[in-house]
Amino acid sequence: MRTPLIAGNWKMNKTASEAARFARELVQSPLSTAAIDIVIAPPFTALAAVRDVLGETSPIGLGAQNLHWEDRGAFTGEISAPMLKDLSCRYVILGHSERRAQFGEQDDLIRKKILAALTHGLNPILCVGESLSERESGATNAVIERQLKGCLTGFEPSQLGPLTIAYEPVWAIGTGKAATPEQSIEVHQLIRRTLATGWTTSVASGTRILYGGSVTPQNVESFLASPDIDGALVGGACLQVDSFASIVRLAQTRIGH
Ligand code: 13P
Repeated sequence: MRTPLIAGNWKMNKTASEAARFARELVQSPLSTAAIDIVIAPPFTALAAVRDVLGETSPIGLGAQNLHWEDRGAFTGEISAPMLKDLSCRYVILGHSERRAQFGEQDDLIRKKILAALTHGLNPILCVGESLSERESGATNAVIERQLKGCLTGFEPSQLGPLTIAYEPVWAIGTGKAATPEQSIEVHQLIRRTLATGWTTSVASGTRILYGGSVTPQNVESFLASPDIDGALVGGACLQVDSFASIVRLAQTRIGH
């Protein structure tokens, strides 16, 4: 059984002190962690502050938003997997469309980052998704397959247990125009087929696939009603404790039943 996952990608939001306040409010909010995995991914500068509030064994997992594929060295401004592990990070978001579009990240580089994450015991959340023009030109499936193959080529099925995939259509991110559950389900099924043919059926059935893009407390249930959608990667709506906690609660009442 795939445990549902609700992950909050804070992007470049909140100072360390704002993040600590958020974490204190989150742990004090009436939030059950039963039957679900919860992850928050603050900026690098806030990881230690959030870890100090959550504690190292919190059921709320700590995630980073990126890493460098080397362990150490002359890479000014970069952060490595061992550094994240040392801060009690358990997850790392990789290949987000904002990194692809604004920082030139391509599939082969993302593959190296996934390898670094897996090598150091971090659970990668790999983001894939098509742009609006790619969708409108009917290229969605080809883009998703290319991204999956480009990012995951060379991994043995036995390595991929910790992997989560997030389908985040670029046109749905931060626009208030979420994909429809039908559009999302179609791509989630394509992702599973690609994992089955490129790796194994157990990789396909065991990998969590999240939907991301304008997820809110208002629409999250419509996605999670489908057995094909294992959770959500939330941006804007994860920045307030109330809305993030509501998304978690709604997910708990709708999925896994
Ligand atoms: P929004 O929820 O703000 O659309 O962002 C989604 C996202 O990019 C999460 O990684």
